[in-house]
This record gives sequence, structure tokens and C-alpha cells, in this order.
Amino acid sequence: MEAEKIALSLDEVEKKVLVAVSSGSLDSSYLLKNLGLDRDSLMNASRRLLGKGLVRILTSINVEFGLTEAGKKYGKEGLPEQVLLSYLKANRKVEYKSLAQSVTLTQEEFSAAVGALRRINAIAIDGSAVKLLDEQPKDLLLKEELMKKAENGAELDESEQVKELLKRKLIEKIERVSETVEITDLGKEVMKTKDFSVRTVDKLTPEVIYNWKGVVFKEYNLNMDFPSPLSGRKNITKQFASIIREAMVSMGFQEMKSGYAESSFWNFDVMMFKQDHPDRDIQDTVHMGAGETIPPAGLLKSVKEVYESGFRSGSDDVSIGFRRGFDEEKSKALIMRGHTTATTFRYIYNVISKHKDQPAKFFSVDKAFRNETLDFKHLPELYQIEGVVYDDNLSLPDLIGYITEFYSKIGIKQIRLKPTYNPYTEPSLEIQAFSKQLNQWMEVGNSGIFRPETLRPFGITKNIIAWGFGMERMLMSLLGLTDIRQIYGAFADLDLLRNTPSSKILRGLD
Ligand code: PHE
Repeated sequence: MEAEKIALSLDEVEKKVLVAVSSGSLDSSYLLKNLGLDRDSLMNASRRLLGKGLVRILTSINVEFGLTEAGKKYGKEGLPEQVLLSYLKANRKVEYKSLAQSVTLTQEEFSAAVGALRRINAIAIDGSAVKLLDEQPKDLLLKEELMKKAENGAELDESEQVKELLKRKLIEKIERVSETVEITDLGKEVMKTKDFSVRTVDKLTPEVIYNWKGVVFKEYNLNMDFPSPLSGRKNITKQFASIIREAMVSMGFQEMKSGYAESSFWNFDVMMFKQDHPDRDIQDTVHMGAGETIPPAGLLKSVKEVYESGFRSGSDDVSIGFRRGFDEEKSKALIMRGHTTATTFRYIYNVISKHKDQPAKFFSVDKAFRNETLDFKHLPELYQIEGVVYDDNLSLPDLIGYITEFYSKIGIKQIRLKPTYNPYTEPSLEIQAFSKQLNQWMEVGNSGIFRPETLRPFGITKNIIAWGFGMERMLMSLLGLTDIRQIYGAFADLDLLRNTPSSKILRGLD
């Protein structure tokens, strides 16, 4: 009964293969040649027969020989020693000195040919003359024969000549996996059923629809067991980025976006990074060499003014500026965005400065690029979590509040804040998280209140607080990683990437 059912589940290709192997096991290359099937159809049909228990598939590895590229060339032109030999046969009594120039061989081939012929005593060099001793050396004939055999993929015994040809990289060993298909008892039983000879149809074509009477449809086996393949999944950085987006949105922030390629204007000048000053080195910028973008003219003019001369408010000097020239050309240079604070300033310009009476909260989880050497805690390309808040009366406690709230939402409770320096914020706070695994505090972020000089060109007088956190370092801390390279690149820990669910990221190690 079972066998009958299986018989109806077979398509014509499966039956063809089963019939072919019914009288004895056959290897797949024989089947390929003789059944008129392409490799895929044969393999798929054999796999389906295997799944139904009608055949066994045995794999073995055979070592065959083949010609290398150089071997193929000599296969056509003859081995260098053959070329030399032919020349000597045609021109007896040759001067060794002129020989190299007379034959059509490279210097290297010539030396190899002379060496090979001397070794088998086919030639001798007598003073300056080259003497031919053996016109048809057996060794040479043998090698030529071996090359022919290798060309046809034969199996060769390890003779002296085979070793030499391998060493000279004229032939090579090729491992071929061969599969042998063998019928099982169930397979034999299925072949005996009367349904085995019923032609089944597995495709619904117009012809079948017109003439459906008497057609037997192939049965689908829905219970076939296949090993589940490794399926693709999001990298944990992407999963973590989603978690962060949710956290930021739940705190009332809106996402902002801007491009990876950025002008020095938005990356530096607008934040009052002094031009030609070591301050810019903090960023380890990746310069793009060519290309430029032009900042909005009005804004460029006001940034230049504040940069050069500062500004006054009423009778007070709020800032005296850098009191040196601002180079507009430098502003246009293209770089890879070194921090997402460039994005923040684009939003300050495009959104906040245009709606000054409205509070605003923006965030981004996006890439920043640093000309940094890869090590256990530095990446040249990293995700930054940027946040910016614009409202009345913001001050340091608000900044600290947002930072602690955010880190605790993500699951990092042990943080500390340390005063630090940024050209564009005052005061500035560095955020450190404790890594149990490394047993040390690690910088995980940086923040502050934007200096009035950076906001003056936008006509903004209220405080703006902002921060930038390194996302991969947070992941390190949450997952207890000791090396940031476990997440990306050649050292990536594939087990970690495949088997870390989002819940684990959030729960952390505890
Ligand atoms: N841009 C800073 C960095 O890359 C982070 C930061 C953002 C600091 C906003 C202050 C304000 O580290």
C-alpha cells in the first residue's frame, strides 16, 4: 500500500533514475552521461528519491589529475625539452652560447629544458658544444603520455615523472566528489507496483486542462524531512539599532537622517572647530580627496563672522571670536562624516532655526567614519547614537537626566560622567560605562550644551543639549564582549552573530 502511494508520487525523472540504478549502483557521472539529464535535475531527482527512501547515495572523493594553465600551453606546443630536442635534431653541432637565442623558449624554460635533458642523459655539454646523445628519450615520451592522460582526467600512479610534472606545476591533483546511487529494497518494491508504470503529470498545462480525464497527477510529499538550512538574519548591530530607535521614540524623539559624505562646513566649521588646529584631529577624519559641496551662502557668511570676530549681545562681548581669517574654500572640502553631530546641525538649520518657538527632540542611529586603526575597542566605521533637545531653560541636569534615562532603558545601569572638552560644547560631559569583562571603565559617549557661538549664526539664543554615544561599545558592554571585532569583519564571532536574540541584547549578561 505504502509502495503504491510512493509510486504515484514519482515524476518521470525520478522514475528514469530509479530504473537506471535498479540493476546495480551507478555513479552520478555515469548517470549524467547516459540519462540525458543536466546535473541539477539529476541531483534533485536523486535527493527526492533519497527523501522517499528509495535510494541510498554514497559519496566518495576521487583524486584525479588535470593540466594546469602552463600544462595546457605545453600540451599544445610541446614541453620545453621537446622543443629543444627538436631543434637539436634539426641542427646538429650547436654552440651552447648561441643556443638560447636560437630556440623559441624563455630564459627560464630554456634552463629547465637543458636541465631536464641532461638529467636523463639525452644531451651532454662538451666544452662549448652541445651534443645530442639520445634522439628519442623514453622519459620524455612517458611525460608526454602522462600529460595526455592528465588532460583526460585520468588517475595516475605516483611515478618519478608524475612527481616531476607536479613539481613543475604542469599537472595538478583535483579532488572530485563522486556520488553513487544505489537502490533500496523499498525502491525495488515500488518499481514492482502497477502504479509505477502510470505516467504521472506534475505540471498543469493548457493541454492537461483540455484533456484532464484519465490524467494521474503526481502526489506531493508534504512530509518530507529536509535538514533545515542556515537562514540569514539581521546582524546584531541592526537589531540593536532597532531597539535603540524604539527607546528614543518612546522618549519622544524623532529620527533624523543625512548623508555619509559631508562637507567640512557641516562637520567642523559650523561647530566652531578652529581651521588648521589640532582640535580637528580629535575626529580622525577620512578625507575624500576630490569633490566639494557648497554650504548655504547666508549661513556661511554668519559662521565666518562669528568665527572671525565673535558677537555682542547688548553692550556685552559674548565672544571675541578667533580673530583670524576664515577660509571659505576649506569649508567646501568633502569628507566622510566624522560624527553625526553634522546631522544635528543640519537639523538645527533646517528645522529648529525655522521654528524657534517650538521645542524639538531629534535622534539618529547612524554611521560615522574615523581614520582609526582597528583594535579591540576602535572601529573605523561605527554607529553613533545622536540626540539633541531644544526647549526653554535647558541646563546640565536635563542633559544628565536624558543620559541616565537612556542608558538605563537600554540596560546599562553602571555609568559615570566626567567633565571633558569639546570645541563646540560647554560644559561637556564624557559618559563611561563599566565593563565587567575588561574590568575597566570605558568611554561610551560624549555630550554637552552647545556653545553660544555655534548657535548664533542660526539666531538661536536658547540652550540646546546634545550627545553622541558609540553603539558598538554599548553592545560590548551588554554582551560582555572583550573585543569589538567580534561583531564585524574577519574576526567576527559567527556563533555570537547567529545565536544572539534581541532579548539577550536587552537583558545583557545578567
Ligand atoms: N560628536 C561627539 C563625538 O563624536 C559627541 C557629541 C555630540 C558631543 C553632541 C557633544 C554634543 O564624540
